[in-house]
Amino acid sequence: MTDTHTTHDALEDPRNADIKIYVNGKLVHRDDAKVSVYDSGFMLGDGMWEGLRLYDGQWAFFEEHMDRFFNSCKAVSLDVGMDEAGILEALNTTAKANGMTTDVHCRMMLTRGTKVKPFQHPSLSRSGPTLVIILEHSKPVNSLQSAGIRLATVPQVRGLPTSQDAKYNSHSKLNCVIACLQAEQAGADEGLMLDPHGFVNTTNACNFFIVRRGEVWTSTGDYCMNGVTRQKVIDLCRADGIPIFEKNYSLYEAYGADEAFLTGTFGAQTPVASIDGKPIGTTDRPIMTRIQALYKQAIADYVAACEAQPKS
Ligand SMILES: Cc1ncc(COP(=O)(O)O)c(C=O)c1O
Repeated sequence: MTDTHTTHDALEDPRNADIKIYVNGKLVHRDDAKVSVYDSGFMLGDGMWEGLRLYDGQWAFFEEHMDRFFNSCKAVSLDVGMDEAGILEALNTTAKANGMTTDVHCRMMLTRGTKVKPFQHPSLSRSGPTLVIILEHSKPVNSLQSAGIRLATVPQVRGLPTSQDAKYNSHSKLNCVIACLQAEQAGADEGLMLDPHGFVNTTNACNFFIVRRGEVWTSTGDYCMNGVTRQKVIDLCRADGIPIFEKNYSLYEAYGADEAFLTGTFGAQTPVASIDGKPIGTTDRPIMTRIQALYKQAIADYVAACEAQPKS
């Protein structure tokens, strides 16, 4: 039987049973980390989040994550209540309280806060935003790389930005959750989502790339999350002379790809084993392997550049 995976499978780490979680400035044991049932994130999915990774004491590509986060919050008039330096301090305080320096995944969540009544109107959130930071010891399981992910094309599509723009990393991820359920019910690990025109777009939790005849292809970027890892892969390919195209393509071309892989902060680049039961390439993935090496180096360079900065 084929191993089943989710794209965010991490090695079991018993230390995660006792992590401290940041809840509005307080660090509390995970069992005591709670928000109100009146919180707009719980009630409506009215909030934004970021997934980041800590490598050797540095939050990789922090500026890009903050750019997306603050842009998203501004777009929905969600007052963060602090600047980037404040967020960095909150992240570092949480890491320090947990004795964490590397191989750490962060889910930072900001909601519009507690409401005075259980209804939708944003003005009912009157006591300021809720900021929660969960850091976990996190190493992706090795089998993600060896076995790869099985994708199923799902009926749920990525919508037009006029409904809920896919660029919002919002608490409400129902569109993605429905796609994920459809994939699971089709016997796959993750859903491959098309755009409203039927072109291949993205998966329910990661960005999607194919390699065809020496070229790397990904969607135009319309309809999908503006993934930090996606952009890094595009930039690294350009800098290293790997032909990369952001373009429309169909399942026809995806099925016939030589390689396919997913990108995201959690797993960096994760190979795709099959799409709709059709195997993609072989277990030999030379272009993805090259991109993985470039990405690893980009993180090392980022960490070195942060360490070289004078401390204020
Ligand atoms: C739907 C979706 N696609 C892609 C990504 C990957 O984005 P990133 O590379 O910034 O982690 C995420 C992560 O938040 C996501 O939720």
